[in-house]
Amino acid sequence: MQVRPMRPQEAGQCQQLLLLCDSARVPHICDECHTLVLEKNGQIIGVCRYCSCPEYADLTLTALCIATQWQSKGYGSYLLRKALHHMGAYQGCSVFAATSQNNAPAAALLRKLGFAPRTAITTENGQLLDAFLRYTPKQLTSLTVSHQLLAQRIRPGDFVIDATAGLGRDTAYLCRLVGESGKVLAMDIQPSAVDATNRLLAEKKLDSIGKAILADHADLSAYAAPESVDAVVFNFGWLPGADHSLFTTPATSIPALQAALSLLKPGAFLVASIYHGGANGTTERDCLLPWFAALDPARYTVLQCSFLNRQGKDPIVILVQTQ
Ligand SMILES: C[S@@+](CC[C@H](N)C(=O)[O-])C[C@H]1O[C@@H](n2cnc3c(N)ncnc32)[C@H](O)[C@@H]1O
Repeated sequence: MQVRPMRPQEAGQCQQLLLLCDSARVPHICDECHTLVLEKNGQIIGVCRYCSCPEYADLTLTALCIATQWQSKGYGSYLLRKALHHMGAYQGCSVFAATSQNNAPAAALLRKLGFAPRTAITTENGQLLDAFLRYTPKQLTSLTVSHQLLAQRIRPGDFVIDATAGLGRDTAYLCRLVGESGKVLAMDIQPSAVDATNRLLAEKKLDSIGKAILADHADLSAYAAPESVDAVVFNFGWLPGADHSLFTTPATSIPALQAALSLLKPGAFLVASIYHGGANGTTERDCLLPWFAALDPARYTVLQCSFLNRQGKDPIVILVQTQ
C-alpha cells in the first residue's frame, strides 16, 4: 500500500472517484492543485487533492475520498496522514478543510488528525460548510522554509535540478514532490556526495526518479536545454559531516545561478539557501545577495527570507520566481 502523486494517465479514474465522494471540499477555485492516490495491490482505492489557497491557510484540502467498498476500514485516516506529510503539515504548514454541514465521519477524521473547528463558511451558491484548520506551530528553520516554498510550487511530472546534492536529503525530498512521472537531476563536485545521494535514492526506492552525477554546477547548462527546467535548488555551503574547507564559492555559485536562470521555463523558479558564518565566513553571502538584488524586476521576482531576531547564523533562503 502506498500514497503517491497521481500519474497523468490516472486523471480520469481519479475524477470518477472524486465525483462519488463528498468528504472534504472548499467552495472556490484554487490554484496549484496536487492529487495524491492511495494504491493498494496495484489498484487506486483513494484520492486526496490539495491546493494552494492563501485565502484560508498555506494549503487547503479540497477533496479526500475512499472507494465505497474500502470505506470504514481506516484507509481515510491513512491517506490523510500521508497527505499531511506531503503537504509539510508536520513541519508547520497550515492546512484548511471544509466539509458539508454535520458530516460527522469527516469531522471526526479531521479532528483525529489535529484539525480544529473554525467558523462555518458559505459557498458562492449559498451552501454552509463546516470549516477546520490544522496548524501546529513549530520552530521554523531555513530548511522548512525552503521545503515549503518547493512543496507549494513543484508539481508531479516536473523536471527539477538539485545543484548541490550533498547527502541527497533535498534530492530525495524533490523526488517525492515530482513523483514517478517527474525527474530530478542532482550534481555535486565531491564523489562522496554523489555516492551518498545515489545510495539514499536507491534505499528510498527513488532511483527511477532521481540520479546524482559528478559535476560542477557552474557547468549546469551542459545538462539541460534552455527553458526546459521547472525548478533549480541550491543549498550552498559544505557537505554535512565532511571536510568543511570544501564549500561553495561565488566563483562557481554565480555562474551556476546565471546558468540556472537560463534553464528555467517561463513561470518556473529557483530556491537557494545561503549559509554564512563558520568556515566559509560571509564572502559568499556578501556576493550572492547583491547579485540577487540586481536581477531585473521585469523578469524576476526575488524574495529573501531571513531570521531577523535569531543570534545564530541561520541560512538565508532566496526564492527567484520567473515571470
Ligand atoms: C550544504 S551541501 C548540500 C546539502 C544537500 N542539499 C543535502 O540535502 O544533503 C553543499 C554541497 O555543495 C557541493 N558543492 C560545492 N561546490 C560545488 C560546485 N561547484 N558544484 C556542485 N556542487 C558543489 C558540496 O560538495 C556540498 O556537498
